[in-house]
Amino acid sequence: MGLRWIFLTLLTPLLAAQQQDSSDTNSSTVPQETEGCQKPQRISKLLFSPEKKIYGLNEEVTLSCPVKDPLPLAVIRCSKEMSPGWKSAWEVKNIEGAWQRVVVKLTCLPRKCQKPQWEGRVQLEPNKKPYKLNEERTLKCTGDLQPPFRKVKCAKKFLRINERSGEPVYGDAWWGWNSTGAWIHIEGPVECIGK
Ligand SMILES: *[C@@H]1O[C@H](CO)[C@@H](O)[C@H](O)[C@H]1NC(C)=O
Ligand SMILES: *[C@@H]1O[C@H](CO)[C@@H](O)[C@H](O)[C@H]1NC(C)=O
Repeated sequence: MGLRWIFLTLLTPLLAAQQQDSSDTNSSTVPQETEGCQKPQRISKLLFSPEKKIYGLNEEVTLSCPVKDPLPLAVIRCSKEMSPGWKSAWEVKNIEGAWQRVVVKLTCLPRKCQKPQWEGRVQLEPNKKPYKLNEERTLKCTGDLQPPFRKVKCAKKFLRINERSGEPVYGDAWWGWNSTGAWIHIEGPVECIGK
């Protein structure tokens, strides 16, 4: 008797405490079965707004290219798909406002835009090609006319996922610096206006 008994009485609460510990650790470190999506690693070169590690279901995230003063490229959201169990997946909003499953990564390529089809009196300075992403150009008009924006720059805008190839399709977006100092998306053609 004696020593062994003492040893056991000491050990038992110690073991119990350890067991308690490990079950606590389990419940706190194992992530809850996905109610959300992890930030996707394969498009992590883009800027995410808001920036998080885990996004909630249906939470919308604006992606932009990693440049100074970035402009939106696409809006994505966390969703779920059957495959065969429920699994988190990302969808992107196309130009028609419908959500499409993202299968390949979204990028900021190509890094240049086409010459904008604006009326002939509108001049971009410096007047050289190519029109690089995020490169500011001054807008000028011939004669006494005024441009609607002092400066403009081009960006890429996500249009849709091509149903056949699964590849993303991008278009050019031009942005103008308005009189109160904000970049606004130019929807229609740019025209010179009278003073
Ligand atoms: C961790 O906890 C979960 C749920 O609380 C349980 O289903 C799972 O079996 C536990 N895992 C371990 C290793 O104890
Ligand atoms: C400039 O754009 C900002 C942001 O869209 C807007 O709040 C502001 O009213 C615009 N200013 C003018 C003069 O249009």
